[in-house]
Amino acid sequence: MRTQVGIVGAGPAGLVLAHRLRRAGIDCVVLEDRAREYVEQRVRAGVLEQGTVDTLIDLGVGERLQREGLVHHGLELRFGGAGHRIPLSELTGGRAITLYGQQKVVEDLIAGWLAAGGDLRFEVDDVRVDPERARVEFTHDGARHTLDCDIIAGCDGFHGVCRPSIPNGVLRAYERVYPFAWLGILAEVAPSSEELVYCHSERGFALHSMRSPEISRLYLQVAPDEDIERWPDERIWKELRTRFATRDGWTLNDGPVIEKGITPMRSFVVEPMQHERLYLAGDAAHIVPATGAKGLNLAVADVGVLAAALERQYRDGDATGLETYSQTCLRRVWRVQHFSWWMTSMLHRLSGDDPFEPRLQHAQLEYVCRSRAAATSLAENYVGLEHV
Ligand code: FAD
Ligand code: PHB
Repeated sequence: MRTQVGIVGAGPAGLVLAHRLRRAGIDCVVLEDRAREYVEQRVRAGVLEQGTVDTLIDLGVGERLQREGLVHHGLELRFGGAGHRIPLSELTGGRAITLYGQQKVVEDLIAGWLAAGGDLRFEVDDVRVDPERARVEFTHDGARHTLDCDIIAGCDGFHGVCRPSIPNGVLRAYERVYPFAWLGILAEVAPSSEELVYCHSERGFALHSMRSPEISRLYLQVAPDEDIERWPDERIWKELRTRFATRDGWTLNDGPVIEKGITPMRSFVVEPMQHERLYLAGDAAHIVPATGAKGLNLAVADVGVLAAALERQYRDGDATGLETYSQTCLRRVWRVQHFSWWMTSMLHRLSGDDPFEPRLQHAQLEYVCRSRAAATSLAENYVGLEHV
């Protein structure tokens, strides 16, 4: 088999890239190791930046997103038993975020891709990537295949095969593992607040989010090695109620829990994001702690850079975009790393018994809520910087 761009991974990065390339008349094949049902049900991100929404609409897969996505113009920071609204749109010239589940984004992208006759193979096995020859070998439907490409896009997430296929010594990894994780639930209950609530409490961080007028998404900071079995639903609701409690008696709606899981918090970047003819994009190259709601958005930004570079290469024979791919992406990656680290450090309980930390965090939270300059900095990063 031969194609121009071999895409490994059908997450947001791989699928958005496939759509962008098709629109530019560039041939590609997408390989995914999981089943279609699995990738369409995996509960993950929910916050889309304006730029991500614009990209999806532009690619012709934004119809349901525009109908069902919840547009938010602000968010709440809650600490010391009181809430403070950050008016995101007012501070950013009208930009907003949209709440829309990642699995719906993936579902829309897959449906659009297959409807247009795109080549996407699910449940491929034993994928081997050769960055030098731009060759991918894989098993599909019981047969071994070889896919020769001009370039390979490694969009296979943090645990994929592309990054490890780059020889030792080429990449430099930067990593920070936080001493906590998030326990996330999806519940069949109307959201208790119209906007997201990021809550700092003595017992740790909590986040109130949502997926629709009927479905709430909530998170609790827990120990990194926490066992989900120790968290029956009643204990989760009780802990959420305690952390979110305000002096004026805010109430949290509860209901049946339909999904729950634990996500570790880490910051990770490899440099460069390219080796020979293999280009890494999205979680394959970097991870951000979820507090900034940036992972999916960063994945979409990477493949925007890669698609533009490939268009330039095929249309004009100009390789500049490909040569500077890593450098261009890493500017945004590190800005977003900083923002995600900053939000994480400001909002979580960092170390068990150091009384200095919570005092610093309160000082910072109060400053962000009182100073228009500080609030604007949070807001412009949160809705997504247009140019980095
Ligand atoms: P992935 O979505 O991981 O896709 C990679 C794909 O490659 C997968 O489908 C995988 O099955 C496939 N694959 C893996 N190995 C192979 C292989 N060997 N061969 C073929 N295919 C392979 N981000 C936000 O922007 N906003 C949020 O609000 C947010 N909240 C989050 C909450 C949680 C609980 C979690 C876990 C993450 C959250 N994120 C958020 C992060 C976001 O989900 C990821 O950053 C995003 O999925 C990255 O997309 P990707 O396409 O790079 O990788
Ligand atoms: C979510 O809705 O899943 C979500 C929202 C905000 C975050 C992370 C996750 O920072």
